[in-house]
Amino acid sequence: MAAVDALLTTDEFESVQAVVDALREQGYIADTRLATTVFLLTRLDKPLLLEGPAGVGKTELAKMLAAATGRRLLRLQCYEGQDETKALYEWDYGKQLLYTQILREKIGQVVADAPDLHEAVERIGAQESVFFSERFLAPRPLLEAIRSPEPVVLLIDEVDRADEALEAVLLETLGEFQISVPEVGTFTADRRPYVLLTSNNTRDLAAALKRRCLHLFLDYPAAERELEIVRSKKTGLSDALAEELVNVVRGLRQLELRKAPSISETIDWARTLAVLGVDELNAQILSDTVSVVVKYDKDVKKALDALPRLVDPNAEIPEAHGHGHGHGHGHGHGHEHDDDPAEVDGREVRAARDQAGRHGEGAYGTPKYAKDTAADAPAKARKVTSSQGSRSFGLGRKRAL
Ligand SMILES: Nc1ncnc2c1ncn2[C@@H]1O[C@H](COP(=O)(O)OP(=O)(O)OP(=O)(O)O)[C@@H](O)[C@H]1O
Ligand SMILES: [Mg+2]
Repeated sequence: MAAVDALLTTDEFESVQAVVDALREQGYIADTRLATTVFLLTRLDKPLLLEGPAGVGKTELAKMLAAATGRRLLRLQCYEGQDETKALYEWDYGKQLLYTQILREKIGQVVADAPDLHEAVERIGAQESVFFSERFLAPRPLLEAIRSPEPVVLLIDEVDRADEALEAVLLETLGEFQISVPEVGTFTADRRPYVLLTSNNTRDLAAALKRRCLHLFLDYPAAERELEIVRSKKTGLSDALAEELVNVVRGLRQLELRKAPSISETIDWARTLAVLGVDELNAQILSDTVSVVVKYDKDVKKALDALPRLVDPNAEIPEAHGHGHGHGHGHGHGHEHDDDPAEVDGREVRAARDQAGRHGEGAYGTPKYAKDTAADAPAKARKVTSSQGSRSFGLGRKRAL
């Protein structure tokens, strides 16, 4: 009994602050909104649906919650075409076969004196339950989470990639925390797992699923928290430079990039600059290393254009394109690839190669998403000259001039 009590106290948080502290101890920096939601998840026995752009710490939260509570992490990675057997359970065909081989003689005896084939099949059929018993059940993450004697953290990662049929199975399972295996019976969780689902919004999830979950939209963090995250990763970059870097990345996020840089990219950039022994951020060193944070050639071009302004708002920027209309700076007339057919083609080819929906319109981190969220970006405003375009660069810089 004492052991059970100890278990209860170690994996339950007393307060929201206790969540913040426990996660921080594992290296995960949470703000109070995030910590409050996690606290509720642990108290209300409801799954938590985490939505947001790539690389903002959705998956990491589940891992760190498991570490902080001492629970085992079970992960169901969703993908297109996945069927429910990969989520719930399968019959271990190999093991069944092995047993029938080893027991060949015994099986032979069962049917030895059967007068005809029909009777032989009947007799084997009567033994079916031996081979469709728990012994031959191969549990997949959902069943494993429910059957586990110790409570676990169940991560259902990238649920938006799963087909709707699997979503329905999830709905059923998460509603009741029980799974029926017709041949064996119904499994019910003794202690409910903490369930976290993540989504990149590549498609709309069923309203019914959303309704059953606590919901948290995890966006790019505020500058302070991002700086704290970078610091906590011991990248080797000085605090002052890390602060400047965070603001540069935040500026890049305001560009119309196909894939905006995420927290992990900020961390990678900080490490890169530290390895290079950089002691001052300037446009040159940022440009030389920009491929660490932007991964599409079109994005690289836009980032290179913007970097001098982002790192030093007073920089004299030569007219880069000669188009004379601020091309590529988010001028907002909705057809930015209109004047270069080669560019249009390249973009289309790449888009076609993308996994279905992965970076579709409105997926987090895509231009539409950036456009929709730019207006409420939390960074500090600074002045921009008229030649710098009407949007995109007014955010994110905080350096004594
Ligand atoms: N709050 C945080 N505290 C500490 N590290 C963080 C935090 N948020 C993100 N990170 C870092 O960012 C990295 C990327 O996070 P993660 O893989 O969880 O992103 P994600 O939101 O699951 O992205 P995707 O949608 O691409 O799967 C983590 O490995 C971690 O190092
Ligand atoms: Mg993830």
